[in-house]
Amino acid sequence: MFVGLMLFLALMLFAGYAKLSTVILNRILARPLPKWAIAAIEVPQLGLLPLYAVLLIQCLFQHGLWLRDRTWFDLTPFQGLLIVAGIIGFLLLVRSTWIFQRYRPPQCERAHTSRLVDFRHSSEAQTWQAIYLGPGPMRGVALLPGNQQFTLEVSTKTYSLPRLPSEWDGLSIVHLADTHFRGAVTRAYFEAVCDQAIAMQPDLFVFTGDLLDDAELIDWLPTTLGRLRGKIGQYFILGNHDWYLDSNRVRAELEHLGWLDLSSRCVEVRPPNSTNSAPALVLAGDETPWMGTHPNLNQTSTDSFRILLSHTPDNIQWAQSQQIDLMLSGHTHGGQIQLPLIGPVYSPSRYGCRYASGVFWKAPTLLVVSRGISGREPIRYLCRPELTKVVLRTMSAQ
Ligand SMILES: [Fe+2]
Repeated sequence: MFVGLMLFLALMLFAGYAKLSTVILNRILARPLPKWAIAAIEVPQLGLLPLYAVLLIQCLFQHGLWLRDRTWFDLTPFQGLLIVAGIIGFLLLVRSTWIFQRYRPPQCERAHTSRLVDFRHSSEAQTWQAIYLGPGPMRGVALLPGNQQFTLEVSTKTYSLPRLPSEWDGLSIVHLADTHFRGAVTRAYFEAVCDQAIAMQPDLFVFTGDLLDDAELIDWLPTTLGRLRGKIGQYFILGNHDWYLDSNRVRAELEHLGWLDLSSRCVEVRPPNSTNSAPALVLAGDETPWMGTHPNLNQTSTDSFRILLSHTPDNIQWAQSQQIDLMLSGHTHGGQIQLPLIGPVYSPSRYGCRYASGVFWKAPTLLVVSRGISGREPIRYLCRPELTKVVLRTMSAQ
């Protein structure tokens, strides 16, 4: 009985410490840090978890708090710190679980359909592993039981937005995010994802950054994103993983393939086959805090419907202040691993896991955060990769 209670208490405090350390880690990783600094923070954070567990068990069983003749005041200051950290973290864990469980799509959502494309059922003569898995140590990670990296969720989500002009009613945008070309997942996978995107026939294709982790794989672009053509165009920004590499080379290659760079700027587009009197739509791009500046929207009409591509959802407050109507983001990957009941844990954002993925109405802005298509590590649990078509309707449309 005593041992069981102590172990239960230790488990709660350990979960609390793990939560507290990731809460801090997520906020630190939201900042524009070089790769070496990230490794210097991530590795000790993981290493301290088992150390905390050992110290905590030693502390609890040494003192036998509450159930023996010791009291909390017998703890050393260091042991007290361990306990307080665990309690604070546990309260944060309860709070984030509550927020995760209470998530609902915004009221402006009019329809949501989705289907799964399971790449593990190949119709080819080769096995799916031979087609979609590259060599290297990550191959074993990709093959872990239950890994959802190769089951893509293809969704169509429709929203009514108050400022959408009637001329733009039905505007459709296919949003791609976080491809992270690295080699563990092959070019064939991304080509197959792009086939799915092409079949959605949107007005606009947008890509919100983190294209690659291996500069040599830039030659995958012509047969992947290079094939996408929207009726109005295809626009991109880059992300922090592109910033680690030669981002100018990536920009040049994407532009060569017909994509328009929205980094730190905005453009006005008009409906296809329309006259100049049709209201323009403003498309803007934001790669801060890693590259460039916020786009200057002062030269565009305040009446224009505004769409912002921002790699991180952390720019949501700035978007609200600029009367952005729709903001499309990625970066956080939905946490890649979501725990049952609790939800995501790792999410490099100053909001922690709050905007790890999903759609949020933050008036006057609708924020759409994609789970992305892949990641640095090809591992996903309760967090499938995502390809989404966003359809916008006016408030009065039937
Ligand atoms: Fe990413």
